[in-house]
Amino acid sequence: MSIVYLNGEYMPAHEAKISPMDRGFLFGDGIYEVVPSYGGQFVGFEPHMTRMFDGLAAIEIQHEFSLEYFRDVCQTLCEKNGNGNLGIYIHISRGTDVKRHHAYPKDVRPTLFAYTFDIPAAPSADIEKAKTYKVNTHQDLRWQRCNIKSTALLGNVMHYQHGHAAGCDETLLFNADNQLTEASSCNAFIVKDGVVLTPNLDSQKLPGITRLILLDILKKYSDIKVEERIITRAEVDNADEIWITSSTKQVGAVVELDGKPVNGGKIGPVWQQAQSLFSTHQFDYN
Ligand code: PDD
Repeated sequence: MSIVYLNGEYMPAHEAKISPMDRGFLFGDGIYEVVPSYGGQFVGFEPHMTRMFDGLAAIEIQHEFSLEYFRDVCQTLCEKNGNGNLGIYIHISRGTDVKRHHAYPKDVRPTLFAYTFDIPAAPSADIEKAKTYKVNTHQDLRWQRCNIKSTALLGNVMHYQHGHAAGCDETLLFNADNQLTEASSCNAFIVKDGVVLTPNLDSQKLPGITRLILLDILKKYSDIKVEERIITRAEVDNADEIWITSSTKQVGAVVELDGKPVNGGKIGPVWQQAQSLFSTHQFDYN
């Protein structure tokens, strides 16, 4: 039975109860993280926590949580849930109020919920075995603060569903100027003539930790040229390779874009190099 963490206590999932007056429920007023753990080893624990603390500061949730407190909660949750390949979901809402009122209430304690879920084994850079992804595209219709990892994910959910309903694994998003932002639950990369390109960070994209780690690894351990800059729709359409990155997928190779093959419908050679380096260095960022 799954053991979860709620406001200081570990308990079976069915015993975890949250008030309907919680602002996470009423307003999506909170932030979340997903930290991957393989056999008890985290990937990117510190950068995940830095982003979470940045998110709490951005939406002015007062708290006394520390990095080491979360490390202990995450380690304990993984142990209690069998230390397999797990995603650790951490959700902090502003807390439970006595009424529904938009202004941030004073003197409420944040609600902290965390649980683990099974994720696939860390992918190896094996072209024969790697999962491949099909994506479709849509104009990015989300809000203008996508850099905050808000629990209010309806925009992302609707974009994801659009792809899912069309038999795709993800939806690539383009802003009003037809520039690539990200995907509904991943960051996006393209490869052209051996150069790895990804959209530069701003408030239209989540600063993904897999993106951060991958860029650092490529710069430190390879000669591959990397650029963070605006990427146009035409560049995506003409890319040699397209990748989507997230904590649960690592570097995912896209082989179909809007029903058309990418790289002849096969995983590309730069992906193999990138995923291989990621696999080697993924545990160095904790
Ligand atoms: N999704 N962009 C969006 C909109 C995301 O939701 C995510 C992560 C990413 C990649 O971030 P990271 O590399 O830190 O996982 C980019 C998570 C996994 C989710 O919502 O389940």
